[in-house]
Amino acid sequence: MQQDQAYLLRQLSNSTPGHSRKSRVVTIASGKGGVGKSNFALNFALSLIAAGKKVVLIDLDIGMANLDILMGLNPKYHLLDMIKHKKSIWDVLEKGPNQLEYLAGGSGFNHLHQLDEDERSFFFHELEKLHGYADIILIDTGAGLTLESQQCHLSADEVILLTTPEPTSIADAYSVVKMLHSQRPSLSFQLVINRVSNPKQGMEVASKFKSAVQSFLKKEIKIFGAIPDDPYVMQAVLKQVPFTLAFPRSSASSTIKRLAERFVSGTPEPKDNGGIKGFIRKLTRILDK
Ligand SMILES: Nc1ncnc2c1ncn2[C@@H]1O[C@H](COP(=O)(O)OP(=O)(O)O)[C@@H](O)[C@H]1O
Ligand SMILES: [Mg+2]
Repeated sequence: MQQDQAYLLRQLSNSTPGHSRKSRVVTIASGKGGVGKSNFALNFALSLIAAGKKVVLIDLDIGMANLDILMGLNPKYHLLDMIKHKKSIWDVLEKGPNQLEYLAGGSGFNHLHQLDEDERSFFFHELEKLHGYADIILIDTGAGLTLESQQCHLSADEVILLTTPEPTSIADAYSVVKMLHSQRPSLSFQLVINRVSNPKQGMEVASKFKSAVQSFLKKEIKIFGAIPDDPYVMQAVLKQVPFTLAFPRSSASSTIKRLAERFVSGTPEPKDNGGIKGFIRKLTRILDK
Protein backbone atom coordinates (compact mmCIF):
# COMPACT_ATOMS: atom_id res chain seq x y z
CA MET A 1 0.00 0.00 0.00
CA GLN A 2 1.18 3.52 -0.78
CA GLN A 3 2.43 5.54 2.15
CA ASP A 4 -0.19 8.25 1.69
CA GLN A 5 -2.99 5.69 1.55
CA ALA A 6 -1.73 4.05 4.72
CA TYR A 7 -1.58 7.47 6.37
CA LEU A 8 -5.14 8.28 5.32
CA LEU A 9 -6.47 4.98 6.66
CA ARG A 10 -4.67 5.51 9.94
CA GLN A 11 -6.17 8.96 10.26
CA LEU A 12 -9.64 7.62 9.50
CA SER A 13 -9.37 4.85 12.05
CA ASN A 14 -8.23 7.44 14.59
CA SER A 15 -11.56 9.22 14.38
CA THR A 16 -13.65 6.23 15.40
CA PRO A 17 -14.06 4.94 18.94
CA GLY A 18 -11.67 2.22 19.99
CA HIS A 19 -8.33 3.18 18.43
CA SER A 20 -5.19 3.03 20.51
CA ARG A 21 -5.17 6.55 22.00
CA LYS A 22 -4.49 5.97 25.69
CA SER A 23 -6.78 7.93 27.96
CA ARG A 24 -5.24 9.66 30.92
CA VAL A 25 -7.50 9.07 33.94
CA VAL A 26 -7.43 12.03 36.30
CA THR A 27 -9.52 12.28 39.47
CA ILE A 28 -10.32 15.53 41.24
CA ALA A 29 -9.98 15.31 45.02
CA SER A 30 -10.44 17.49 48.05
CA GLY A 31 -10.50 17.05 51.79
CA LYS A 32 -13.34 19.32 52.78
CA GLY A 33 -16.44 19.72 50.64
CA GLY A 34 -17.36 23.02 49.03
CA VAL A 35 -13.81 23.97 48.03
CA GLY A 36 -14.69 24.24 44.33
CA LYS A 37 -14.02 20.71 43.08
CA SER A 38 -17.00 20.41 40.72
CA ASN A 39 -16.53 23.89 39.30
CA PHE A 40 -12.88 23.08 38.76
CA ALA A 41 -13.63 19.71 37.14
CA LEU A 42 -16.15 21.20 34.73
CA ASN A 43 -14.19 24.28 33.74
CA PHE A 44 -10.89 22.41 33.56
CA ALA A 45 -12.58 19.89 31.24
CA LEU A 46 -13.85 22.71 29.00
CA SER A 47 -10.42 24.35 29.00
CA LEU A 48 -8.73 21.06 28.06
CA ILE A 49 -11.14 20.82 25.13
CA ALA A 50 -10.25 24.37 24.13
CA ALA A 51 -6.60 23.27 24.27
CA GLY A 52 -7.37 20.57 21.69
CA LYS A 53 -8.04 17.49 23.79
CA LYS A 54 -10.95 15.09 23.68
CA VAL A 55 -12.37 14.91 27.17
CA VAL A 56 -14.97 12.80 28.92
CA LEU A 57 -16.08 14.05 32.33
CA ILE A 58 -17.55 11.53 34.75
CA ASP A 59 -19.54 12.55 37.80
CA LEU A 60 -18.75 9.93 40.42
CA ASP A 61 -19.81 12.12 43.33
CA ILE A 62 -22.52 9.54 43.74
CA GLY A 63 -25.52 10.81 45.68
CA MET A 64 -24.38 14.47 45.48
CA ALA A 65 -23.81 14.64 41.75
CA ASN A 66 -24.32 18.14 40.46
CA LEU A 67 -22.28 18.78 37.35
CA ASP A 68 -25.51 19.01 35.35
CA ILE A 69 -26.79 21.78 37.61
CA LEU A 70 -23.60 23.74 36.96
CA MET A 71 -24.33 23.43 33.22
CA GLY A 72 -28.08 23.99 33.49
CA LEU A 73 -28.71 20.63 31.88
CA ASN A 74 -31.19 17.95 32.65
CA PRO A 75 -29.54 14.69 31.65
CA LYS A 76 -31.70 12.04 30.08
CA TYR A 77 -29.73 9.19 31.59
CA HIS A 78 -27.27 8.85 34.40
CA LEU A 79 -24.86 6.29 35.68
CA LEU A 80 -27.47 4.18 37.42
CA ASP A 81 -29.64 3.99 34.27
CA MET A 82 -26.64 2.67 32.43
CA ILE A 83 -26.09 -0.02 35.00
CA LYS A 84 -29.68 -0.97 35.85
CA HIS A 85 -31.08 -0.81 32.34
CA LYS A 86 -27.98 -2.11 30.60
CA LYS A 87 -27.59 0.96 28.43
CA SER A 88 -24.48 1.36 26.37
CA ILE A 89 -22.08 4.10 27.42
CA TRP A 90 -22.60 5.66 23.98
CA ASP A 91 -26.30 6.11 24.82
CA VAL A 92 -25.77 7.64 28.24
CA LEU A 93 -22.89 10.01 27.51
CA GLU A 94 -24.55 13.40 27.59
CA LYS A 95 -23.46 16.28 25.41
CA GLY A 96 -22.43 19.36 27.35
CA PRO A 97 -21.30 22.68 25.90
CA ASN A 98 -18.38 22.82 23.45
CA GLN A 99 -18.20 19.08 22.66
CA LEU A 100 -17.91 18.17 26.30
CA GLU A 101 -19.17 14.65 26.85
CA TYR A 102 -20.10 13.67 30.33
CA LEU A 103 -21.61 10.87 32.30
CA ALA A 104 -24.09 12.22 34.83
CA GLY A 105 -23.86 10.83 38.34
CA GLY A 106 -27.43 11.03 39.55
CA SER A 107 -28.42 9.42 42.79
CA GLY A 108 -30.02 6.17 43.75
CA PHE A 109 -27.17 4.15 45.08
CA ASN A 110 -24.33 5.12 47.34
CA HIS A 111 -21.65 2.58 46.83
CA LEU A 112 -20.06 0.67 44.04
CA HIS A 113 -20.20 -2.14 46.59
CA GLN A 114 -23.97 -2.15 46.30
CA LEU A 115 -23.70 -3.35 42.72
CA ASP A 116 -23.96 -7.07 42.25
CA GLU A 117 -21.35 -9.02 40.32
CA ASP A 118 -23.24 -8.78 37.07
CA GLU A 119 -23.94 -5.03 37.35
CA ARG A 120 -20.39 -4.26 38.23
CA SER A 121 -18.92 -6.17 35.35
CA PHE A 122 -21.39 -4.51 32.97
CA PHE A 123 -20.42 -1.07 34.33
CA PHE A 124 -16.71 -1.75 33.93
CA HIS A 125 -17.22 -3.24 30.49
CA GLU A 126 -19.00 -0.04 29.36
CA LEU A 127 -16.38 2.21 30.95
CA GLU A 128 -13.65 0.27 29.20
CA LYS A 129 -15.13 1.31 25.86
CA LEU A 130 -13.71 4.76 26.55
CA HIS A 131 -10.25 3.33 25.98
CA GLY A 132 -8.92 5.08 22.95
CA TYR A 133 -11.93 7.38 22.72
CA ALA A 134 -10.91 10.22 25.02
CA ASP A 135 -7.48 11.72 25.60
CA ILE A 136 -8.40 12.61 29.14
CA ILE A 137 -11.06 11.14 31.42
CA LEU A 138 -11.72 13.52 34.29
CA ILE A 139 -13.56 12.14 37.29
CA ASP A 140 -15.26 14.34 39.86
CA THR A 141 -15.57 12.48 43.15
CA GLY A 142 -17.12 13.02 46.55
CA ALA A 143 -15.23 15.16 49.05
CA GLY A 144 -12.90 13.63 51.58
CA LEU A 145 -12.20 10.03 52.24
CA THR A 146 -15.46 8.30 51.43
CA LEU A 147 -14.81 4.74 50.40
CA GLU A 148 -15.90 5.53 46.86
CA SER A 149 -13.57 8.47 46.42
CA GLN A 150 -10.63 6.63 47.93
CA GLN A 151 -11.12 3.74 45.57
CA CYS A 152 -11.31 6.04 42.57
CA HIS A 153 -8.19 8.01 43.48
CA LEU A 154 -6.22 4.85 44.20
CA SER A 155 -7.11 3.53 40.74
CA ALA A 156 -6.40 6.72 38.79
CA ASP A 157 -3.29 7.72 36.88
CA GLU A 158 -3.09 10.95 38.82
CA VAL A 159 -5.01 13.05 41.29
CA ILE A 160 -5.60 16.79 41.15
CA LEU A 161 -6.00 17.81 44.77
CA LEU A 162 -7.90 21.01 45.53
CA THR A 163 -7.78 22.99 48.72
CA THR A 164 -8.53 26.57 49.66
CA PRO A 165 -6.01 28.52 51.80
CA GLU A 166 -8.15 27.93 54.90
CA PRO A 167 -6.43 25.80 57.56
CA THR A 168 -9.42 23.46 57.85
CA SER A 169 -9.35 22.74 54.13
CA ILE A 170 -5.56 22.31 54.14
CA ALA A 171 -5.62 19.92 57.10
CA ASP A 172 -8.26 17.77 55.40
CA ALA A 173 -6.39 17.79 52.09
CA TYR A 174 -3.25 16.68 53.91
CA SER A 175 -5.17 13.74 55.45
CA VAL A 176 -6.26 12.72 51.97
CA VAL A 177 -2.66 12.65 50.70
CA LYS A 178 -1.51 10.77 53.80
CA MET A 179 -4.21 8.16 53.51
CA LEU A 180 -3.84 7.59 49.76
CA HIS A 181 -0.04 7.62 49.96
CA SER A 182 -0.10 4.89 52.62
CA GLN A 183 -2.05 2.67 50.26
CA ARG A 184 -0.35 3.57 46.99
CA PRO A 185 2.97 5.34 47.44
CA SER A 186 3.48 5.83 43.69
CA LEU A 187 0.27 7.82 43.21
CA SER A 188 0.92 11.17 41.55
CA PHE A 189 -0.61 14.37 42.96
CA GLN A 190 -1.00 17.83 41.46
CA LEU A 191 -1.90 20.48 43.99
CA VAL A 192 -4.28 23.36 43.24
CA ILE A 193 -4.98 26.11 45.74
CA ASN A 194 -8.41 27.51 44.95
CA ARG A 195 -9.88 30.86 45.98
CA VAL A 196 -6.60 32.64 46.76
CA SER A 197 -6.54 36.38 47.49
CA ASN A 198 -3.44 36.86 45.34
CA PRO A 199 -0.80 34.72 43.57
CA LYS A 200 1.69 35.22 46.44
CA GLN A 201 -0.75 33.69 48.93
CA GLY A 202 -1.27 30.78 46.54
CA MET A 203 2.46 30.07 46.23
CA GLU A 204 3.01 30.34 49.97
CA VAL A 205 0.21 27.93 50.84
CA ALA A 206 1.28 25.50 48.10
CA SER A 207 4.96 25.50 49.14
CA LYS A 208 4.10 24.95 52.80
CA PHE A 209 1.82 22.08 51.88
CA LYS A 210 4.44 20.56 49.61
CA SER A 211 7.17 20.74 52.27
CA ALA A 212 4.92 19.23 54.95
CA VAL A 213 4.22 16.29 52.64
CA GLN A 214 7.95 16.05 51.88
CA SER A 215 9.04 16.06 55.52
CA PHE A 216 6.35 13.92 57.08
CA LEU A 217 5.41 11.54 54.32
CA LYS A 218 8.66 11.59 52.31
CA LYS A 219 6.57 12.14 49.25
CA GLU A 220 6.96 14.54 46.33
CA ILE A 221 3.82 16.25 45.11
CA LYS A 222 3.65 18.75 42.28
CA ILE A 223 2.34 22.28 42.64
CA PHE A 224 -0.04 22.78 39.75
CA GLY A 225 -1.23 26.31 40.47
CA ALA A 226 -3.51 28.69 42.32
CA ILE A 227 -6.90 30.01 41.22
CA PRO A 228 -8.07 33.40 42.44
CA ASP A 229 -11.14 33.92 44.55
CA ASP A 230 -13.35 35.42 41.89
CA PRO A 231 -16.93 36.69 42.36
CA TYR A 232 -17.71 35.73 38.75
CA VAL A 233 -17.56 32.05 39.75
CA MET A 234 -20.61 32.41 41.98
CA GLN A 235 -22.37 34.51 39.35
CA ALA A 236 -21.78 31.76 36.79
CA VAL A 237 -23.09 29.12 39.21
CA LEU A 238 -26.24 31.21 39.69
CA LYS A 239 -26.63 31.50 35.90
CA GLN A 240 -25.96 27.75 35.58
CA VAL A 241 -23.33 28.37 32.94
CA PRO A 242 -19.72 27.20 33.45
CA PHE A 243 -17.64 30.24 34.48
CA THR A 244 -15.12 29.85 31.67
CA LEU A 245 -17.99 30.23 29.19
CA ALA A 246 -20.10 32.79 31.04
CA PHE A 247 -17.16 35.04 31.94
CA PRO A 248 -14.24 33.95 29.77
CA ARG A 249 -12.10 36.95 30.67
CA SER A 250 -12.57 36.76 34.43
CA SER A 251 -9.46 36.03 36.49
CA ALA A 252 -10.57 32.50 37.47
CA SER A 253 -11.26 31.70 33.79
CA SER A 254 -7.93 32.91 32.48
CA THR A 255 -6.08 31.06 35.24
CA ILE A 256 -7.81 27.73 34.67
CA LYS A 257 -7.24 28.05 30.91
CA ARG A 258 -3.52 28.55 31.54
CA LEU A 259 -3.49 25.50 33.82
CA ALA A 260 -5.17 23.39 31.13
CA GLU A 261 -2.66 24.54 28.50
CA ARG A 262 0.19 23.66 30.83
CA PHE A 263 -1.40 20.30 31.60
CA VAL A 264 -1.62 19.49 27.91
CA SER A 265 1.79 20.72 26.84
CA GLY A 266 4.00 20.61 29.86
CA THR A 267 2.88 17.99 32.34
CA PRO A 268 4.40 14.59 31.66
CA GLU A 269 2.11 11.65 32.22
CA PRO A 270 2.93 9.56 35.27
CA LYS A 271 5.10 6.52 34.50
CA ASP A 272 2.52 3.99 35.58
CA ASN A 273 -0.26 5.54 33.49
CA GLY A 274 -2.63 2.66 32.83
CA GLY A 275 -5.47 4.62 31.23
CA ILE A 276 -9.06 3.49 31.67
CA LYS A 277 -8.05 -0.17 31.48
CA GLY A 278 -5.58 0.35 34.31
CA PHE A 279 -8.23 2.22 36.26
CA ILE A 280 -10.68 -0.66 35.97
CA ARG A 281 -8.01 -3.26 36.76
CA LYS A 282 -6.96 -1.43 39.92
CA LEU A 283 -10.55 -0.73 40.96
CA THR A 284 -11.52 -4.37 40.52
CA ARG A 285 -8.57 -5.46 42.65
CA ILE A 286 -9.56 -2.98 45.39
CA LEU A 287 -13.25 -3.96 45.33
CA ASP A 288 -12.38 -7.65 45.49
CA LYS A 289 -10.22 -7.23 48.61
N1 LIG B 1 -12.35 30.32 42.46
C1 LIG B 1 -13.49 30.60 43.09
N2 LIG B 1 -13.81 31.89 43.41
C2 LIG B 1 -14.94 32.20 44.07
N3 LIG B 1 -15.85 31.28 44.45
C3 LIG B 1 -15.62 29.98 44.18
C4 LIG B 1 -14.42 29.58 43.48
N4 LIG B 1 -14.49 28.23 43.35
C5 LIG B 1 -15.63 27.83 43.94
N5 LIG B 1 -16.32 28.87 44.44
C6 LIG B 1 -17.61 28.86 45.18
O1 LIG B 1 -17.70 27.65 45.90
C7 LIG B 1 -18.93 27.02 45.65
C8 LIG B 1 -18.78 25.52 45.76
O2 LIG B 1 -18.11 25.02 44.65
P1 LIG B 1 -18.24 23.50 44.17
O3 LIG B 1 -17.46 23.41 42.89
O4 LIG B 1 -19.65 23.08 44.13
O5 LIG B 1 -17.47 22.76 45.35
P2 LIG B 1 -17.30 21.20 45.68
O6 LIG B 1 -17.55 20.43 44.43
O7 LIG B 1 -15.88 21.11 46.15
O8 LIG B 1 -18.26 20.89 46.76
C9 LIG B 1 -19.34 27.52 44.26
O9 LIG B 1 -20.73 27.47 44.10
C10 LIG B 1 -18.82 28.94 44.25
O10 LIG B 1 -19.76 29.81 44.82
MG1 LIG C 1 -18.94 18.89 44.02
